[in-house]
Formats: sequence, structure tokens, C-alpha cells
Amino acid sequence: MSVPVTCKDFFCTESHPQPVGIIIFGASGDLTSRKLLPSLFNLFLRGLMPDDFYILGVARTEFTDETFREKVKESLTGDNGKIQDFLERTFYTQGEYDSISLYSDLKWRIKDLEKRFTTKGNKIFYMAVPPSLYLPIVENLGDLGLTSQENAFSRVIIEKPFGFDLDSANELDKKLHMTLKEDQIYRIDHYLGKETVQNILIFRFANSIFEPVWNNRYIDNVQITVAEDIGVEHRAGYYEHAGLVRDMFQNHMMQLLSLVTIEPPSTFDADEIHNEKVKIFRSIRPFPLDDLDSWFVRGQYGRGKIDGKEVVSYVEEPGVNPNSKVETFAAAKFMIDNWRWSGVPFYMRSGKRLQKRVSEIIITFKRVPHSIFPQLPVKNIPSNILKINIQPEEGIVLSFQAKHPGPKLCMSTLTMDFKYTEVFGTRPPEAYERLLLDCMFGDQTLFIRDDVMRESWKIFTPLIKKWESEKDISKLDIYEAGTWGPASSDELIKKDGREWYNAL
Ligand SMILES: NC(=O)c1ccc[n+]([C@@H]2O[C@H](COP(=O)([O-])OP(=O)(O)OC[C@H]3O[C@@H](n4cnc5c(N)ncnc54)[C@H](OP(=O)(O)O)[C@@H]3O)[C@@H](O)[C@H]2O)c1
Repeated sequence: MSVPVTCKDFFCTESHPQPVGIIIFGASGDLTSRKLLPSLFNLFLRGLMPDDFYILGVARTEFTDETFREKVKESLTGDNGKIQDFLERTFYTQGEYDSISLYSDLKWRIKDLEKRFTTKGNKIFYMAVPPSLYLPIVENLGDLGLTSQENAFSRVIIEKPFGFDLDSANELDKKLHMTLKEDQIYRIDHYLGKETVQNILIFRFANSIFEPVWNNRYIDNVQITVAEDIGVEHRAGYYEHAGLVRDMFQNHMMQLLSLVTIEPPSTFDADEIHNEKVKIFRSIRPFPLDDLDSWFVRGQYGRGKIDGKEVVSYVEEPGVNPNSKVETFAAAKFMIDNWRWSGVPFYMRSGKRLQKRVSEIIITFKRVPHSIFPQLPVKNIPSNILKINIQPEEGIVLSFQAKHPGPKLCMSTLTMDFKYTEVFGTRPPEAYERLLLDCMFGDQTLFIRDDVMRESWKIFTPLIKKWESEKDISKLDIYEAGTWGPASSDELIKKDGREWYNAL
């Protein structure tokens, strides 16, 4: 059963950002053409870009303004007139990222564009480049005074991955801080830009009915699944050095976990929310390194079928070492040692080449304490489940028991099902739209503060080091592509008398 949901707006804080120039490094790349430019264009279409703005792409590939615009045009859809207006604000500068001449060209170019588009010196630099380039680009920008905030703002968006372990993340951070203040650094995790992810805080803290039951008295367990059906695709070069735990757990999964578990912040303010995230990460019980396999299992996809089509194993993918010990799947049981969550297991799993592309958070409540129904023991009365769907179909589903109509006492499980597209009549905007807009506003709520990033790395670095130092003997289970991962993942949760909630 689906219950109709109505929507009545009563609060909206969207307003207009200040004039700004957006300078994208790595403008010839995948992220720029698939996400960044379409997102900026959508903001433009929705009237959310400032009246005065320009976009300047920077990369090594040879483009003129004209040829770059032709490439940008291919990534945009919508009204042709609007596309033309947008392209007239789009420019390109070519150069080597380590060459001083690129930055002096840029300084000159930016000055000219600032005059032309009256952007008042405000700048956002987007690092859509491989991670090894973040620092040299920022240092060069700093040397030429382009990161100075005198009478204007200058912000830098840093893509993931931010470091490869605690030491490298600290090192990168320390060096970035020689040029930038923390309030200029926007560490992006695009999961935080997703509507349903943002909705978790509204759901928890703008309703009074959930918070009283949001604790170990009422919640039995929480599952977080981020599953992809695609394989490693063209990212083998990166993935072979990263692996799934770095790619998904250290950032996206931890951010999801934090939003479900933080204490109510004193206000909806970036620093207050980040403070709560630091507290929750510090409360996560460290994984026992001498018994890691009981808490954290890893797998790698073998051959199998996705949508009825045969697919190759990870080690047969182009660019992957045939003896690779890199994990493409992980499942773990997290415990949070604080008053609210003591004793509640958080089962988290993520993987590539799984049965279905789905990201969801499943909150299972405790069973009723006693059954008043003859012949129906407590164990046969299903738990209430709250499911937060993040993708592909954004929404929230609550299941509960009700009497089946008729003269007999029959019970059914019903669901109240809120689907974002049904209620609002439109798909939620691309995560990058929200994040780019927030950066224009100077709002860091949905970005990762340095100490939050550090606390997360502290959890995973000892595990990663152990697996890497014991590469040849560490447990890595091969699973068939198109399944829900290795049997060890099922065993991890089964030994607690529970099972994974697998999306249909
Ligand atoms: N694509 C995504 O969906 C996605 C998602 C999350 C995070 N990210 C992160 O966003 C950043 C950009 O991603 P992307 O997928 O757009 O990367 P990409 O296409 O591999 O690279 C972006 C641009 O950087 C330049 N570049 C690539 N390799 C280089 C090298 N070895 N030395 C110097 N320049 C190089 C290239 O431009 P030129 O050769 O023209 O200079 C390329 O067009 C990365 O840090 C990635 O981890 C991407």
C-alpha cells in the first residue's frame, strides 16, 4: 500500500549568490564535462547563478575559447538560446600545471574577465585534476596572489581523494594551509550534495516524532549499503592504488553514517555540524587488528553476469594487475561507543559489480516487547523498518503492521512510501549543483572540514596498512559479479542473528 503524500512549502532559503568567476582546472576531463558544466548550466537555467559570472576552463589540452565552447556545448542540453548565453561566459586557457607562464597568463586573463563581467574579484578555483596536482596548482595560485582574499573571496574546491591515508592527508592539508585558510578550502564529497542525504538532518531534527526513538532503546540495527553494478571501468589506474575502502568507506559511507548518528547540533551551522561529526567519529570503536576478519571482510569481483550479460573479473579488466589484491567490495560492522548508540551494530557494505545499483540506509527498530496476539509469538511480528533511499529512486519508506481487512485477525506489513519524484514532480537536482551553489554562498556545511577528514582517516589507516603489509596473506574473497558480494559478508551479519536487507 502506498499512502499519498502531500507537500506544502513553508520555508526556503534559496537566494542569489554574489558575482563570481569559476576557474576549473582539468577542464578537458570527465568530471568537468559530465558533472561540473552541466550543473553550472542547470543553475543558470534555474536563475540561481549570479547575474555576473564567468567560467574559465584550464588544462593542458589545446583548445581555443571557440573549440572549448564546442566541447562544452556537447555536454549541455536545453534551450539553445540559453546555451548560447552560457557559452558566451565560458573561456579557456591552455598550459602546463607546473609552468609559471600558465599562472601569469591566468592572472592576466582573470583580471580581464573580472572587468568584463564585474565579478568584483571573487573567485572559485575547482581542482578537477588528479590529486597529485592539487597542491602545485594551489601553491602557484598563491604565489601570484590569486588566493588572496583582500576585498573579495577566493575559494578552492578540492576533489576526492583527499590523501591516501592519515599521513598523506595530513601532509596535503598542512601544505594547503600554507596558502589557504580553512574557510577557503572546500573538500568535496558529492554524496553530501544528494537531496536525500541532506534530508536526513531535516528528517531527524525538524520532526519531533523520530528523535525520541533514535537510539539504542528502540533501534535494533542500522544497515548502510552503497552498491554499484558497474565494474572499475576506465578508473583502473586510480583504483589499483585506492581500492574500495579508500574510495567509498573513508568518505561517502562515513558521511552517511555520521548524518544518521550525530547528536543534534546546537544550530544548523557548518561548524556546529562538523563538531558533531568529529565527536561521533571519535566514538567509533577501533577495529581489533588481531581479529579484523570478524569485523571487516573484503572481496574482489570474479566473472559473472550483470543484466544477463557476461562480465569479466576485476583482474581481467584493462589496466588491472592480473595478480591484483585490491578489494572491490567491503562489509563491516561498526560499533559506536556512546550513550545513544551503545550496543547498536551498524552494518555497512559497498561494492562494485553487485546485483543492483542502490544506495540506502535501513533502520530496523526493535521488535515489540511482548505479543498480545494468541498464536503469534514476538519473533513472528516483523520489526518496523525505516528505509532512506538515496539512489536510484530517492525517497523514504516506513513499514509497519496493520490488520488485513476481513472478519479474521490477519496482519500485513504496510509501507508508507515517499518517492521524491512523485511528490515533487521532478527529479532532485544533481548533487554538484547544490555543492557549487553552496560554495558560491560560502556555506561549508556540506563540505568536509579538516578535522572530520582526519578523524575518518584515523579509523581506516591502521586497517589499510595491515592489509597492505600482509597483501599475500590477507583475506580477500572472490565473489561472482552480479551477486551481493562474498559469502563472508553474509556470515558477518548472520553470526549476529541478522541478515542483509537486499534491495529487490
Ligand atoms: N569523474 C568523476 O565522476 C569523479 C568523481 C569523483 C571524484 N573525481 C575526482 O575529480 C578529479 C578529476 O576527475 P576526472 O575524472 O575528470 O579526471 P580525468 O578526466 O582523469 O582528468 C582531468 C584532467 O586532468 C588532466 N590530467 C589527467 N591526468 C593527468 C596527469 N597525469 N598529469 C597532468 N594532468 C592530467 C587532464 O587534462 P589535460 O591533459 O588537458 O591537462 C584531464 O582532462 C580527480 O581527482 C578524481 O578523483 C572524479
